[in-house]
Parts: sequence; C-alpha cells; structure tokens
Amino acid sequence: MAQKSFKYIILGGGVSAGYAAKEFANQGVKPGELAVISKEAVAPYERPALSKGYLFPEGAARLPGFHCCVGSGGEKLLPESYKQKGIELILSTEIVKADLGAKSLVSAAGDVFKYETLIIATGSTVLRLTDFGVKGADSKNILYLREIDDADKVVEAIKAKKGGKAVVVGGGYIGLELSAALRINNFDVTMVFPEPWCMPRLFTADIAAFYETYYTNKGVKIIKGTVASGFTAHPNGEVNEVQLKDGRSLEADIVIVGVGAKPLTTLFKGQVEEDKGGIKTDAFFKTSVPDVYAVGDVATFPLKMYGDMRRVEHVDHSRKSAEQAVKAIKAAEGGGAVEEYDYLPFFYSRSFDLSWQFYGDNVGDSVLFGDSNPSNPKPRFGAYWVQDGKVVGAFMEGGSGDENKALAKVAKARPVAASLEDLTKQGISFAAKI
Ligand code: FDA
Ligand code: NAD
Repeated sequence: MAQKSFKYIILGGGVSAGYAAKEFANQGVKPGELAVISKEAVAPYERPALSKGYLFPEGAARLPGFHCCVGSGGEKLLPESYKQKGIELILSTEIVKADLGAKSLVSAAGDVFKYETLIIATGSTVLRLTDFGVKGADSKNILYLREIDDADKVVEAIKAKKGGKAVVVGGGYIGLELSAALRINNFDVTMVFPEPWCMPRLFTADIAAFYETYYTNKGVKIIKGTVASGFTAHPNGEVNEVQLKDGRSLEADIVIVGVGAKPLTTLFKGQVEEDKGGIKTDAFFKTSVPDVYAVGDVATFPLKMYGDMRRVEHVDHSRKSAEQAVKAIKAAEGGGAVEEYDYLPFFYSRSFDLSWQFYGDNVGDSVLFGDSNPSNPKPRFGAYWVQDGKVVGAFMEGGSGDENKALAKVAKARPVAASLEDLTKQGISFAAKI
C-alpha cells in the first residue's frame, strides 16, 4: 500500500477535473504539487461527445480527439500534457474512502493519498432501473451512458445488433440524444417516458411538440405517459422484450436507459454540509470544510442572479466552476481574492440536424416565436420565459452564432417585456436589440 502526498488533489477525472487542471497549469503549479485521481482509465475528456459524435456510424469521434479542453476552444490536454505540466494523472483509481478531517483519500487498492487542498469533482452517476427493483432490469444489452466505458458498450451493441430494435427509456437529455443516435444508426427506435411531453425539465408543451413531431418524422416512435415495468431476456441473458406499465410490450435488441442522474456525494456523507442533494458551496466553491472545494455536478452553489442555491448538471457550469475554484485557491494563497461566481445558466443539445441553446431561467409564462414547423428543412424558432414582466429565459433552435449571443444577453439583462404578444411578434429581434 503506497502513500503519496500532494499540495492539491482533484478527485474525479471528468470535465471539471480537466478544466481545473488547465487552470492550475495556467496559474502555475510546481512538479508534483497537483494530482488528478480518476476511476476512469483515460485522461479527462469532453463528456458531451459521448452521446453525439462518439455514436456516429461514420467518422465517429474518438480519443484523443476530444480530451479537455477542446470543448471551449482551449488547449487539448493529452495524457502526456499532464506530465509535461508537472501534474500527476492517477487513472483507473477509484477512491472508496475519504476522511476530510485527516485530509486523506483511500483507493480501492488501499493506496493513501494525502492533500492540503482538495477539489471534489466526482460528478454524477446514472439512476438505474435495478435501483427501483424493475424486474429483469439486469438483462444484457440494457445500457446506460455516463462514461466512456458505457459508450463503448453502446457502440459494441450497435454493431452486434445492426439495424435491430431499440427501446429508449426516458424522455430527457439522454433519451432524446440517444434516440437520434440509434436512428442515425438505422435502428427501429421507440422512446418511452412517463410525462405528457419530452424534456419536461426545460421544454414547454409547445417546444416539445416540435421535437416530438420532428423525431416522429425521422421514424422514432414515441410512447408517453408510461414507464418500463419489466424486461424479459433470451436464454443467453440478452434482453428481448420490454413490458410497459400500461400493459403493452415492445420487442428490443437494445435498451438504453436515461432516467436521470444523481450527484456522487456518498464518500463525503456526514462530513460536509449538503444542500438540494449536492455539496453546499459558497461563491468560490468552498465547502463547509476548510480547504475542501466542490465543483461541477456535485456542487450546490449560490446562483447570484437569482438569489438562491442551485445545482447545475451541464457542461458549461462544470468548466466555469472548476476555473473559479482554482482561481480562488490561487488568489487566496497570494492573500488576494476573486470576484464572486456570477453564473448565467446555459444549456444546449444537438441531435439529428437540430441544435438548440438555452440561457437563463425557465420560470414564469412562456411564448414561442419564429417558424416551429418541423417539416421545414431548416426550422428556426425560439421561446422566451417572462416572470414579473421581465424576460428571464431565452431558447432558440437553429439560431446563428450572433442570435445565440443575443439570447445570452437578454437572459442576463432581464429587460421588461411590453407583452407576451409583442415578444412573439418581435421574436429574436427583441433579444438582438439588447
Ligand atoms: P463528470 O461526470 O464529467 O466527471 C466525474 C468524474 O469523477 C468521472 O471521471 C468519474 O469517473 C470520477 N469519479 C467519480 N467518483 C469517483 C471516485 N470515487 N474515485 C475516482 N473517480 C471518481 N451537458 C451540456 O451542457 N451539454 C451536453 O451536450 C451534454 N452532453 C452530455 C452527454 C452525456 C452522455 C452525459 C453523461 C452528460 C452530458 N452533459 C452535457 C452533462 C455534462 O457532461 C456534465 O454536467 C459534466 O460532465 C459534469 O462535469 P463533472 O466534472 O462534474 O462530472
Ligand atoms: P434527465 O433528468 O434529463 O431526464 C430523465 C427523464 O427520465 C425524465 O424526463 C423522464 O422522462 C424520465 N423518467 C424518469 N423516470 C422514468 C421511468 N421510470 N421510466 C421511464 N422514464 C423515466 O436525465 P438523463 O436524460 O438521464 O440525463 C442524465 C444526466 O446527463 C443529466 O445530468 C443530464 O443533465 C446530463 N446530460 C445532459 C445533456 C445535455 O445537456 N445536452 C445530454 C446528455 C446528458
């Protein structure tokens, strides 16, 4: 059992870890001061690629093509780049015990890692149907997607079951992105989700109607208002049928499940203050424990614009929170300080030929603008959310670079809207004037 000591440890090897490492390198670390510990076997990469380019039938994205930090147009940190920058990359190493009082982490192999400052960047893990006791949910080819190993299993199943039948359980981000990816791979795809429309976390009924019709036109079948209640398998253990709670059943060669994620906070239970399911931080991502920071999906942080505590499970925040934490750590060492984190929520998704962006908060009344006819070859429409007479959220499908910048500006400025009718009439030109 080895024991190693570092000035800084980043625990996790995902998006936040990659961006935190980049920021440490920018700020300057001495060789041997910083370690990144990840249970994954590869250096930090841009996770969003896994549900998009990684699954393309041709010209698929593969590492090292999408290591951090190419997603934001930054330098690509290849495994050897860490070494060159004096950063120790400790891969295939799961931490199974954390003692924040003793400032030590213990790996599954029994190795001990001591730190002076810790950045928790453990991200989220998928919710599994087996957790809910769904019968047969442990059959082969019932797949989830979080890490690159999961994506490799999806790729393998796509190859093995070429042109077969796929059932996608869940109507959120994974549901929509994976249904498209499987359809592009020529699978006969059926999506099943419990709500009355897809992506209810963000979409209004109007926005969802566009995507559901677009997907249906692409050949994806959509079953709403029910859930998968059981699975049966071939004698070789591979799934062959999905039973639905409404009594129907669907043949399946592959099942992809995307029923949500939960932040990985288990290692720190009882040791650090939590809020809204995540690790509570201040505007510098400092937790309730001295010298311990939490960034990315696991952090519940003050969202200054809205005056409340939020957890955000999206890549833009994972990058920016990591950079903020490292800047704060380094500034404090020099006796200085950085500005409070003042985040404007930003989410996006891409599937088929579609691409949308959202900025701000999806609360209050909403209005649609533009051309949301799914049969048009280049749909281009948007939505605003209005609360207390002010525009607080902005969404656009098919927006140009400038239009997306306008969405960000309007969501940040929160201007007064004359009326919902006026916003519909003005459309993107309302945001462009801000
Ligand atoms: P992340 O999950 O990236 O990294 C956590 C890391 O910690 C992993 O390497 C994990 O193995 C490691 N780890 C956890 N516990 C450990 C332990 N005990 N010991 C060692 N290592 C441990 N967002 C968006 O805005 N647009 C998009 O298009 C997408 N697309 C997308 C696709 C897919 C397939 C997923 C799963 C997610 C997205 N997201 C997204 C969400 C986005 O990727 C997510 O919010 C960030 O990856 C969060 O970054 P973190 O670093 O917090 O966690
Ligand atoms: P999600 O929260 O987006 O969607 C979960 C969906 O699961 C719900 O909308 C609902 O339709 C469905 N659901 C819940 N219980 C169900 C059940 N028993 N049976 C069938 N459906 C059920 O979560 P996700 O799509 O699993 O994504 C996981 C994580 O990955 C999230 O953190 C998400 O933000 C992230 N992600 C983000 C992007 C992006 O931002 N573009 C892309 C992929 C993944």
